[in-house]
Amino acid sequence: MADMWIEDIWDKINEKLSRTAIEKRGTLPYTTDNKGRYDDKFRSDVCWWTNGFWPGMMWLMYASTKNEEYRFTAENAEKLLDRAFEQYEGLHHDVGFMWHLSAGADYRITGSRDSYVRNMYAANILAGRYNIKGGYIRAWNGKEQKGYAIIDCMMNIPLLYWASEATGDDRYRYIATSHADKTIKNHIREDGSVHHIVNYDPTTGDIVETKQGQGYAVGSSWSRGQSWGLYGFVLSYLHTNETRYLNAAKRIANYFIAACCDDYLPKSDFRSPTAPVLYDASAGLIAASGLIELSRVVSENEKAMYYEAALRFIKTISDNFADWSDETDAIITHCSESYNSQRHCTLIYADYFLVEAINKLKNINTFMW
Ligand code: GLY
Repeated sequence: MADMWIEDIWDKINEKLSRTAIEKRGTLPYTTDNKGRYDDKFRSDVCWWTNGFWPGMMWLMYASTKNEEYRFTAENAEKLLDRAFEQYEGLHHDVGFMWHLSAGADYRITGSRDSYVRNMYAANILAGRYNIKGGYIRAWNGKEQKGYAIIDCMMNIPLLYWASEATGDDRYRYIATSHADKTIKNHIREDGSVHHIVNYDPTTGDIVETKQGQGYAVGSSWSRGQSWGLYGFVLSYLHTNETRYLNAAKRIANYFIAACCDDYLPKSDFRSPTAPVLYDASAGLIAASGLIELSRVVSENEKAMYYEAALRFIKTISDNFADWSDETDAIITHCSESYNSQRHCTLIYADYFLVEAINKLKNINTFMW
């Protein structure tokens, strides 16, 4: 039995999501409007990078409740995503987020052959974005963005590890480790913070510049990017057993915890002016889920440090930024899409990582990555 506060949060999550799972079936929610109701990216932008989190969250809830309504909604969302394959040109490196959490989860939980095929299509799209001269996976499609590699991609490459594990073909894993090694070298700074965007010369793989991305400024420290790096390197370690990835995850984790230790409510950027105070709760929940995973693989004497930090993030963020009302659809408030836009909104992946982390604390270990 988990601690009372964990059970309490889980009950409230189930109460809210068992309603939205039915009301929002047939849509792909991302954020909420000024009445607190979900939007629908299926109708407005089916290739949107977050479209796997809704079905992923439904699979997590199905794993912990066996309530078929969750499964129906997850399966429905996975089928909606087929339209994104048809649009093809709109796709990007976030095919990992989109399919590994939808079709990939379905395959792992039910063994569905259709889901396996969808996830393999996605893996091949991601592998096709690898720049063989540069040694990195290209993030986005803009003409000027051939050399862009972003820290977030560390959360997409588990799709490639999975593809190698599922097929026995190591090519996917070679691409994933090449990208991860390049990210250690060029994204992680000496102090454990990370750049959001590194722009490479696509013909040589040499760095041209680092860019601002969703943070406050060039050289600042966008908190969600730090958490993508933290969790992403834990995942690379779990898939490869390579200590260099574990050490990279620890470096970023130590930096992240130090940057939040005043109140465990992550600011949107750790190197921004003190006013206005801008939070990004999603960063704390991504980090928390990664920290729980990290605490399971470090040495005995390090475990408590990471596990206790994860508990603090989850409890403090839930105490301060959770909306349990029946009148609204999303749970976690005070997320920021970027430092400069969509501040203090709801974002589907904050709720996803809350559910993922709470499942882990309750020992419902549905490995999603
Ligand atoms: N992957 C984009 C973001 O974190 O906003």
